Amino acid sequence: MNQILMNISDASFSDLLDKVSSGAELDREEWRMLLDRPDESPDQYLRARATEVARQHFGNGIYLRGLIEITSWCRNNCYYCGLRRSNRFASRYRLTTEDILSCCREGAGLGLNTFVLQGGEDDGQDDNWIENTIRAIRAEIPDQAITLSVGERSEDAYRRFREAGADRYLLRHETRNDAHYAQLHPAEMSASHRRACLRTLKALNFQTGAGMMIGTPGQTTDCLLDDIAFLEELRPQMIGIGPFIPAAHTPFAHRQAGSIPLTLRLVALMRLRFPHALIPSTTALATLNGGGRAAGILSGANVVMPNLSPLAVRGQYSIYDHKACQGGESATGLRLLEQELNQIGSRIVYGRGDYST
Ligand code: 5AD
Ligand code: SF4
Repeated sequence: MNQILMNISDASFSDLLDKVSSGAELDREEWRMLLDRPDESPDQYLRARATEVARQHFGNGIYLRGLIEITSWCRNNCYYCGLRRSNRFASRYRLTTEDILSCCREGAGLGLNTFVLQGGEDDGQDDNWIENTIRAIRAEIPDQAITLSVGERSEDAYRRFREAGADRYLLRHETRNDAHYAQLHPAEMSASHRRACLRTLKALNFQTGAGMMIGTPGQTTDCLLDDIAFLEELRPQMIGIGPFIPAAHTPFAHRQAGSIPLTLRLVALMRLRFPHALIPSTTALATLNGGGRAAGILSGANVVMPNLSPLAVRGQYSIYDHKACQGGESATGLRLLEQELNQIGSRIVYGRGDYST
């Protein structure tokens, strides 16, 4: 009896996956059936299908983005993040334009063709400073892609960044559910403003990345359904999905980390829903689990972001505890990364990896 029931539910599971893969819209209850499954075994099937779809579109290539963590100062106070302004235990640093240029040079020397400048919202790196830094990078490396991840800024600032030569922008929406957003952020931050920024970025022709953490306190299946609906509406070119990891000296320091299987399920489902999207196997996945990065790729992710931050500050960008930043995570570990990818039948692609359909 159980066996029969299992088979029936597996059949409907695979029918639903066929439906997602065909590009047809699923209604909320159909998505719920895909998300709410407690058992692991169908996930192996889901992950294999997602990997196959990624390989249909990208071959076995994985794009590299050189990550430069440009400042650990932040004026915001997100409850989950170790860099929040109220965390007086966080160690703070701020790179200069020259520091960033030398990271880019090092990365370009290693063959990387995309740099991601990521940092908190730091008044010491204001809009003018960012604009000038983009121009300085552009002047030296005209052909590489420049990605920014420096939070919520005005439309005017985003436009100036774009005109200065930035190509892409990562700004996770974190959660589409307004009540849940309010559980994760103080009242001075708003989910609707975050979404407005994302729309502006898209309108300015940035290749835009949205995304969410999995397993943040208070997150329900309905929150994730709202996230999927938002991604379907926004259609970002990049989708970052990682598990929540508790950070010391934050209000959520003693909460549970997000589930890896659920994170991988979301990565795989988003690969099926958005076959052309650039989806990183996130550092948070690699941090929670030794094989996390490979697991992300074997769930349909196609981007890895090796850390190019100067060694002197590496480890100080502690958005969460024990963040992976050494070994395979560092640019010096590129060869190890290549080996790790080869073991799962993937390989590094050194192109810019622009979004294309
Ligand atoms: N655990 C996991 N991810 C986190 N981020 C911030 N804090 C944490 C945490 N404790 C993520 C957010 C942010 C991105 C840069 O890092 O989603 O957008
Ligand atoms: Fe600042 Fe980003 Fe951390 Fe929020 S998640 S406190 S905006 S660095």
